[in-house]
Amino acid sequence: MMMRITKPSIFYAVLLLVFIVTGCKQSKKESHSEMETVKTESKQNPIEETIFGEMPDGTKVKKFTLKNEAGMEVDVITYGGIITRWTAPDKNGLYEDVVLGFESLEPYLDGNPYFGALIGRYGNRIANGEFALEGKTYTLAKNDGDNHLHGGEKGFDKVLWNGVAKNTEEGAVIELTYTSQDGEEGYPGKLDVKVTYTLTDNNELDIQYEAVTDKPTVVNLTQHSYFNLSGQLSEQILDHEIYLNADTYLPVDGGLIPTGELRPVASTPFDFKESKLIGKEIEADNEQLKLGKGYDHCWVLNKGEEGFGMVASAYHGETGRFMEVYTNEPGMQFYSGNFLDGTLPAKGGGTYGQRSGFCLETQHFPNSPNQADFPSVRLNPGETYTSRTMFKLSTK
Ligand code: BGC
Repeated sequence: MMMRITKPSIFYAVLLLVFIVTGCKQSKKESHSEMETVKTESKQNPIEETIFGEMPDGTKVKKFTLKNEAGMEVDVITYGGIITRWTAPDKNGLYEDVVLGFESLEPYLDGNPYFGALIGRYGNRIANGEFALEGKTYTLAKNDGDNHLHGGEKGFDKVLWNGVAKNTEEGAVIELTYTSQDGEEGYPGKLDVKVTYTLTDNNELDIQYEAVTDKPTVVNLTQHSYFNLSGQLSEQILDHEIYLNADTYLPVDGGLIPTGELRPVASTPFDFKESKLIGKEIEADNEQLKLGKGYDHCWVLNKGEEGFGMVASAYHGETGRFMEVYTNEPGMQFYSGNFLDGTLPAKGGGTYGQRSGFCLETQHFPNSPNQADFPSVRLNPGETYTSRTMFKLSTK
């Protein structure tokens, strides 16, 4: 049937046109405001990609939000591979952020104690900022008193990583890659590094590290999240119970460099073989606790150098949040946040005061390049450095 063109039908046609045009404008506006949001959809695990901020030179820093079916969310940014937010349920199902950090990029750029960051090339300290390899001495920045700490002035915590979101059978994945040039921060060899964060539906964050080099070098990568399982990020963590499967730990000197001794933990405040409150003995009259201003030592994990297994846990009784740590690394730096001093603003209000977060840093031992008796951290061309650590959150 032919449509007759009448005045009212012209009116409706015009009205429709106006609708279409304004509708388009509207959706353009929306897509503009969401310009920075790309969604990588999958059946179970959408990964959201947004812009977290800009570097001083204008380069954009991306933020990826990993989600799982249980409701956990982990935010990872391309600056330093930093975990800026990590929500976990308490025993009543309440999800709260359990890692220290900031809501925007600026405070990360202004300097902070490695909140949530990837650490490299060498996690922890190298004495006097020096080590020798094949008869040649390499000089590194002394950025911690007389010693080198966490990769130097501009370690992996302060570089921009390339980030790619992927969905796999295991869960939502962020793959971060970075090439550290030969001589960067004084280390030999061009190092190609890949770190993947996988969030599974079992509330596990599985972190896998890989690196290859074109010259003999040293590598010791770790993740520097500060946890506060209470969800009250400015409060002290002394009411958390820690378990560490370690018969010995590495006592340190005044610069927190291991002396080389493997000292039994038995009958000392360093014994965490049975879960114990951090606050229980932290103020004990103990020379090692005084040197670290609390716990800031590397425990020698009982599992030895090989194999992946559960080595540590943390429990916050009031909220019921429980975290297990699995790794294939031989050591665990348990740091009770002793140097936090209340000068940095906390997410959710207040400040990060002393002992408002703790770190469980899986790694090879500090100063290994200068300690022939410690497991080797040397990486040769043709070899692949691999390391794996998984944090599993639950309640009890
Ligand atoms: C070290 C602490 C240091 C902190 C950085 C930890 O890994 O063990 O001594 O102060 O990192 O803020």
